[in-house]
Amino acid sequence: MRYVQLGDVPVKHHIQFKQPDGTLYKEQLFGTQGFSGRSSTMYHIHLPTCVSEIERIGERRLEAVPDDMLKHRHLKTRSFQAQGDAVSGRIPLCFNNDVILAYARTTDRMSYFFKNADGDEALYIHQGSGRLESMFGTLSYTSGDYLIIPRGTIYRLVEETVDTEIFVVESLSPIEIPRRYRNEYGQLLEHAPYRERDIRVPETLETHREDGRYKVRILARGIFHDYYYDFHPFDIVGWDGYVYPWAFNIQNYQPITGLVHMPPPTHQTFEAHNYVICSFVPRMLDYHPDAVPAPYHHSNIDSDEVIYYANDKFGSRRGIEEGSVTLHPSGIPHGPQPGATEASIGVKETKELAVMVDTFHPLQITKQALEVEDPTYAMSWKG
Ligand SMILES: [Fe+2]
Repeated sequence: MRYVQLGDVPVKHHIQFKQPDGTLYKEQLFGTQGFSGRSSTMYHIHLPTCVSEIERIGERRLEAVPDDMLKHRHLKTRSFQAQGDAVSGRIPLCFNNDVILAYARTTDRMSYFFKNADGDEALYIHQGSGRLESMFGTLSYTSGDYLIIPRGTIYRLVEETVDTEIFVVESLSPIEIPRRYRNEYGQLLEHAPYRERDIRVPETLETHREDGRYKVRILARGIFHDYYYDFHPFDIVGWDGYVYPWAFNIQNYQPITGLVHMPPPTHQTFEAHNYVICSFVPRMLDYHPDAVPAPYHHSNIDSDEVIYYANDKFGSRRGIEEGSVTLHPSGIPHGPQPGATEASIGVKETKELAVMVDTFHPLQITKQALEVEDPTYAMSWKG
């Protein structure tokens, strides 16, 4: 990530920085990996510690299916009833100790602020537009955006219209740009599938000076608490550093194409500890005269593969709908369904649009996910 400054900051860290009334602004160092990782320094009007009421809401519920069976799965997420807002409406689909994958389709706007202190979030906005308002400022978003929100960021989505559809990746480790795309200075290299100009950072910082009663729902240690403050949580006059929410639109992913089929790492978009996030975007297909553009079967013995389909065009899959999710677990091979390989021969381009999460440790599927499972999928290779 690059250095960003928004609003007013003093000429040096940790020196007097006074408000118009002569009192000091309250400085806060905001880091997500102790004092050795990336951080930002922000200046509040009020003490960020000054809470007026705390209410324990309860534990988050992640219910794995007991006695789960090893098999390929297809989930039709659009069969879920739309519910709640961009936080309360999330339905967990699968999880392990590194990542939680969820789906949301909203009926309500957020009437409160949210802070996920347990994980970074990558919100893939399948459908919807609006503003991501945060303590770091405001960032507009639209369909196809990945919104990357570092843990601890107080934010809310202000949707232009509800019915926002989100594939949620909640990460127990920081979500990063792959190291192999960057040089020793952190700059994106020529072979990277996107560049700095494709990354959007908070555009404006509005300092809220109003008093009132403001609720911040905090998820920390797996427990939700509501914190109430007598002042608006976006009371920051300025900040600078390397930690902030940012956006990248999947349409700006520059696909890497080749003479023959290119492997999944060419689709890699982000990395985190023990999993990766990849983007499948419309692109030209392989140009060898005898190329077989469909993927070969592969045995991902040590990783689970989850694909979220942002449209219903995916060369190797049949019966996929927009909003479908497939889960191909480690331990058994997966690949194109019967006929898909032959059908791909001679095809020059694909319109597919999908987000893939490959985890290096097994995922557990949730009880909710099975409510929308297509029970025929595991046997669909039988022809
Ligand atoms: Fe695969």
